Amino acid sequence: MKLFLDTASIEEIREINRWGVLGGVTTNPSLLQKEAAEPDKVWRQILEEVAGDVSLEVTAPDADEMVAQGRTLAAMGPNAVVKVPMTPDGLEAGTRLVSEGVRINVTLVFSPAQAILAAEAGAYIVSPFLGRVDDVASDGMALLRSICDIYAVQGYETKVLAASLRHPMHVVESAHAGADIATMPFEVFTKLVKHPLTDIGMERFQADWEKLQHQLEGEAST
Ligand code: G3P
Repeated sequence: MKLFLDTASIEEIREINRWGVLGGVTTNPSLLQKEAAEPDKVWRQILEEVAGDVSLEVTAPDADEMVAQGRTLAAMGPNAVVKVPMTPDGLEAGTRLVSEGVRINVTLVFSPAQAILAAEAGAYIVSPFLGRVDDVASDGMALLRSICDIYAVQGYETKVLAASLRHPMHVVESAHAGADIATMPFEVFTKLVKHPLTDIGMERFQADWEKLQHQLEGEAST
């Protein structure tokens, strides 16, 4: 399962990129709004910084304009994936873009039925929003498992991207469910690496290493 950052922050991308495990990036209008910068500039910078796929979302109100916007976004880089919403206009725009060879990510998916539509539309990626399903007292992980099962039975090639992840166990369970990609905020990504026993172990190793240096210094001076 590839690990993506759900962000439009270049600083966050640079920090995780240096770990060597960043599979790609997903962005959306809300994340761009947080950066308060010119979207075109931000998108191009992210596409350059990241070797993997970067999802850029259309914001146009109807299918014709989504197609025009999608073409512009797709032309920004070979790793650009165009995000379209799971709406009738989004599906029309998405299928038209797919027929032109554009890779699409169908976003705002909240049911297995919508995920079937995304696969039939020829989507490269489908994005079920797990956390937002949990927010309305439903089971986001059950949704993900159902989509992964259906795609396996049907032999759909659309990649399942677990989105709206809120904590490390969402990531672990997404891997168990068979998701192809998990996208997460910086705070969740950085929690993946943390474990108190790792910190304690590091402290002990460091202390013992220093003790050894003192021992050797002592032996050398006798
Ligand atoms: O980018 C799509 C999704 O990951 C958004 O997550 O936390 O806004 O529900 P969230």
